[in-house]
Amino acid sequence: MVVVHTVSELRNQVERWRSSGDQIVFVPTMGNLHPGHLHLVQVARNHGKRVIVSIYVNPMQFDRSDDFSEYPRTTEEDLRLLERQAVDLVFLPSDEEMYPRPLDLMTYVAVPGLGEVLEGASRPGHFRGVTTVVSRLFNLVRPDTAVFGKKDYQQLLLVQRMVDDLAIPVNIVAAETMREANGLAMSSRNAYLTAEQREQAALLFRTLTACVEVVKANPEQIGAAEKSAMQSLESAGFRPDYISVRRRQDLEKPGTGDTELVILAAAWLGKARLIDNIELGLNPPS
Ligand code: PAF
Repeated sequence: MVVVHTVSELRNQVERWRSSGDQIVFVPTMGNLHPGHLHLVQVARNHGKRVIVSIYVNPMQFDRSDDFSEYPRTTEEDLRLLERQAVDLVFLPSDEEMYPRPLDLMTYVAVPGLGEVLEGASRPGHFRGVTTVVSRLFNLVRPDTAVFGKKDYQQLLLVQRMVDDLAIPVNIVAAETMREANGLAMSSRNAYLTAEQREQAALLFRTLTACVEVVKANPEQIGAAEKSAMQSLESAGFRPDYISVRRRQDLEKPGTGDTELVILAAAWLGKARLIDNIELGLNPPS
């Protein structure tokens, strides 16, 4: 496994592989890797010969400075895990390498509409930071394929939208969410939970699962189902930001006849802000 820190080393190596005809598959991460990330790497493996992983805690996408400074950084352990997955190259850039200018003077990429609802509304500036860093990484790595997890559902849709709008020549592959045995979606932020809260946190997924059943049985009762799910979480000690049923393709509120839906949630439990989602399909109206 090659580990590189600079753009020129990255480009030289990738160019060699590309000129030998190797397909390049890319998995961007912020490190603190868990089995969810390793699943992305395994999915990447099925899409091309060379797997490249980046580890960069991107300051531009943090809406709170304490969240950025406390974000778990475990590079040595991450490299050990990636080596075991036979990853071909890890890109570990410095801030200067990623942002050659002060952050507020950098050109940015923002997706209007889709980037401003749900997570975009709760965390102003977050998605602008994500789409900016991902577009820069795409230009540096120039992968044939990139893999993103469905756990960050809105992020996945935004990256797909950005790629479509800017005609970036990369194929985006979505990987399923990995869960703990109790249903909790794997996330680096679960590290902020105590052992007791980790058990309690599984209620988020259980609440979404129950809400899906209610919506499937009574599609006209979506508003009531969302409200009752919020109340269940609140009474269990969560501080929910939102629970919302949306159309899968654009995260707009569903109208009559929309059948491909997703329910998305964000809720605080103790020091951790958890997000999760479940896709659901309704029977088409007869
Ligand atoms: O999902 C993440 O870990 C980050 O948002 C990403 C895509 C690596 C961009 O910093």
